[in-house]
Amino acid sequence: MATTKSKASTKVLEDLFLDGMKDIYYAEKKITKALPKMAKAAESEELAAGFEKHLAETETQVERLEQAFELMGKPARGKTCPAIDGILEEGEEIMQEYKGAPALDAGLLAAAQSVEHYEIARYGTLIAWAEQLGMGEVAELLKATLAEEEATDEVLTQLGESGVNERAMQEAA
Ligand SMILES: [Fe+2]
Repeated sequence: MATTKSKASTKVLEDLFLDGMKDIYYAEKKITKALPKMAKAAESEELAAGFEKHLAETETQVERLEQAFELMGKPARGKTCPAIDGILEEGEEIMQEYKGAPALDAGLLAAAQSVEHYEIARYGTLIAWAEQLGMGEVAELLKATLAEEEATDEVLTQLGESGVNERAMQEAA
């Protein structure tokens, strides 16, 4: 057993896990609002289609989290996540500052990839904690979502390499 410093609070892993679930629930719901804006802003049809596809997945991810809360016997409630708020704000900035610019799509793609990486980090941790806490069914739900986030990240990388980044180097016509 690792030695520990004295603790002032009685909060345990289960509390941390529940807070993390509320955080990602808030984040997923915010993402369902951001993706349609990003799809509308994207110049490339492939990128817009990628955002639309991930919007449908994200709606399912929200439902999976609701199922997970139900399995835990807790109400599905979000908790403000300043990290996702900040990442999405940066995406908004790109939309405003690069409107009509060749680099718009590359910027949108990067913003979306930051969202995915944040989610991948969070789901990875939550899966480990769910398993540690013996919540196998909850872990399975989270794993299904993690696989979608990873696949989306991969699609975004491919879109960047297959033209979006190159077009960002061109002067506006
Ligand atoms: Fe997600």
